[in-house]
Amino acid sequence: MTTETPGPARESAHPLLRPGARIFVAGHRGLVGSALVRRLTADGHEVITRGRDELDLREAAPTEAFLREARPDAVVLAAAKVGGIMANSTRPVEFLEDNLRIQLSVIAGAHAAGVQRLLFLGSSCIYPKHAPQPIREDALLTGPLEPTNEAYALAKIAGIVQIQSYRRQYGAAYISAMPTNLYGPGDNFDLETSHVLPALIRRFHEAKLDGAHEVTLWGSGSPRREFLHVDDLAAACVRLLETYDGDEPVNVGCGEDLTIRELAETVRDVTEYQGSVVWDTSKPDGTPRKLLDVSRLSSLGFKPQIALRDGIARTYAWWLGSRTSRS
Ligand SMILES: NC(=O)c1ccc[n+]([C@@H]2O[C@H](COP(=O)([O-])OP(=O)(O)OC[C@H]3O[C@@H](n4cnc5c(N)ncnc54)[C@H](OP(=O)(O)O)[C@@H]3O)[C@@H](O)[C@H]2O)c1
Repeated sequence: MTTETPGPARESAHPLLRPGARIFVAGHRGLVGSALVRRLTADGHEVITRGRDELDLREAAPTEAFLREARPDAVVLAAAKVGGIMANSTRPVEFLEDNLRIQLSVIAGAHAAGVQRLLFLGSSCIYPKHAPQPIREDALLTGPLEPTNEAYALAKIAGIVQIQSYRRQYGAAYISAMPTNLYGPGDNFDLETSHVLPALIRRFHEAKLDGAHEVTLWGSGSPRREFLHVDDLAAACVRLLETYDGDEPVNVGCGEDLTIRELAETVRDVTEYQGSVVWDTSKPDGTPRKLLDVSRLSSLGFKPQIALRDGIARTYAWWLGSRTSRS
């Protein structure tokens, strides 16, 4: 077990999360977990972590024993089996079972250990494929899911219901957040498994180095998507831990979307690739639009701080730095 050295304790009068709280971040090496560690530590909290090599969170008994010993004030559940369309459609058993098991052992274990506060992270893929846009939290369970990630989405929906059940049966101050597409330092740049934004950064960067005249991208570029920098997500999670204690999940996004074509142009500018972009319209586009309604989060006073272009530039710089430090 490691403990991050906290920064100076903030003056805060939030009864739901005391200043200098001890917080277990499950999944601290991931994109989301590492951003949470940075943010919570900077805010003066004491962050507790445990690597998967020391504790497999699918295992209920050791997870509960760890939580009883560590006695955190709060838990943030950012550990999950996460992946793209290919992994989700070829390995649905792991996406269903690993996530159900992690959620069962961490949420039930936290309750058994007397943890007062818990934030569960789901995903916008829990919403029906044809939910009205922008998607409100009450669209949950109103229609069929996207078939390619149904197993993952159902596990996450079970997590939301588990949180609501602990609230109803035991009065636990446990809550859920549903983030939109995230990006930032710590992202996955492996072209086989990465999401669209890091994949675009890598494609344009490599095309620049190779002197390629054009980059071919899948689809028409017309689908609209929303992206949030992971440091803004971490700030939103802190705001929720400090101020929110409701049954319903809270969408976390920036409230704005753009076309994949606009995204590609922005990434091309940031990476300073001079060639052109060709759209291969024989390839599928996917859902035309996916934007979260963020009114609930906004009503808690949260506003993202990192503009997309700036966030992409920071992520590009981080990736270049991480490659240099590995070589
Ligand atoms: N990335 C996005 O765009 C996005 C969007 C919406 C929601 N979310 C949600 O945010 C959460 C975190 O996602 P992420 O993008 O940060 O994923 P990630 O980068 O893959 O990180 C997941 C973390 O969970 C850990 N983990 C997985 N299985 C474990 C196990 N059995 N025992 C212990 N640790 C385990 C991983 O450990 P290792 O490092 O050892 O593998 C990793 O640190 C997920 O619930 C996801 O649904 C993510």
